[in-house]
Amino acid sequence: MDSLGLFILLIPTFFQQTAASSLEEITWTYKGLVGQSEWSEYFPDCGGTSQSPVDVITTQTKYDPSLIPVTPLGYSQYGNQPFTLFNNGHTAVIKLPEWMGLGGLPWLFSAVQLHLHWGPGGLGHVGSEHTINGLSADAELHVVHYNSELYPNMSTAMAQRDGLAVLGILIVTGEETNPAFNSILNYLSRIRHADQRAFIPAFDVQSLLPSDLGRYYRYNGSLTTPPCHQSAIWTLFHERVQISKAQLLKLETILYSSKAEEPDQMLLQDNYRVTQPLNHRVIFASFSAESGRELSSGEVTAVVIGVMCGCVGLAVIIRFIVKTIRFFKLLHLETVVVNSSTSSWDILHNNRPAPMPRAKEPEKAKEKKQDLPLNLTSEDERKEELSPSLQTEP
Ligand SMILES: *[C@@H]1O[C@H](CO)[C@@H](O)[C@H](O)[C@H]1NC(C)=O
Ligand SMILES: *[C@@H]1O[C@H](CO)[C@@H](O)[C@H](O)[C@H]1NC(C)=O
Repeated sequence: MDSLGLFILLIPTFFQQTAASSLEEITWTYKGLVGQSEWSEYFPDCGGTSQSPVDVITTQTKYDPSLIPVTPLGYSQYGNQPFTLFNNGHTAVIKLPEWMGLGGLPWLFSAVQLHLHWGPGGLGHVGSEHTINGLSADAELHVVHYNSELYPNMSTAMAQRDGLAVLGILIVTGEETNPAFNSILNYLSRIRHADQRAFIPAFDVQSLLPSDLGRYYRYNGSLTTPPCHQSAIWTLFHERVQISKAQLLKLETILYSSKAEEPDQMLLQDNYRVTQPLNHRVIFASFSAESGRELSSGEVTAVVIGVMCGCVGLAVIIRFIVKTIRFFKLLHLETVVVNSSTSSWDILHNNRPAPMPRAKEPEKAKEKKQDLPLNLTSEDERKEELSPSLQTEP
């Protein structure tokens, strides 16, 4: 056997030994040499049957009324110790203080860390790990907790079924800046390269979450990165949070997956895993399909037409009421005018003979107007002065 043949024979042995001896040191990536389709060769759990993320097909979820809202514990009590922000080459991670936790699950969970997943930077609306009815969001936030009632620490818990509880928050873009996310985004420039870390001011972690913590999807899944342990109880919120397009672009374009000293700099992008087969799992919903369902375009049209008809109807009614009020006011004012002119007549001309009976006054006034052009107290002139103002009343 020549040396080339021996060399070819030795290559697989060499790689197998590397894989077996230093599992933790294997540099996995999302695309490339140890990309996501290769993960299971080095991390067997990644090829399991209860993997995350998944596509949530809302019509196939099962409503479970026993699913109460999750309750963040101590998320807003961040104290004065700074948080640590770290670029691990796969994402930006913030280590969370041990007093933060999660309630509303069968056990008490302690917070460990939060991190983000995102897309390619300005191209298309992809980047989230979970999808809903096949649709991606622009990014996704994960808050990771371990079961501190059953296990002593994260490293033990992450290998156990029911060991972890992860909150999944879908992030979409809109016009408005989300100030809560700036508590992270403003400091990414300090951890541009892999292995870099920075102390950042502590902030209210709950402000990153959606306001509705009662409506969510719940299923048993895994870590979405190697070693992909199938230990996570997932809570994917129905409500999505919104950041601005500029904020998303910053997240997508500022970090590198390569270390500062490496000659080839690689942007840290597209760090999301594709959705995994559900297999025989059921995704439970804490809310019924009816109340949680988005309106279809047909339903939106119906609502718009309904509102328009309602408005037209209301306008007709208001117009009728205004006309009625106007009619009664006119009637009332005419009576007042007649009365007041009589009295002013009495005052101004009190040394004249007593006025004629009221019924005859209009005719009498016309005669007087002709006789005395300077006299402005005639009833007709007063009516003319008053009537324009009547017209402009509501
Ligand atoms: C976690 O707990 C286990 C069991 O008590 C222990 O052996 C291990 O060293 C702990 N790991 C860490 C990182 O503290
Ligand atoms: C997750 O798995 C556990 C243990 O098999 C089971 O009791 C629980 O109902 C499952 N939860 C969900 C949401 O499927």
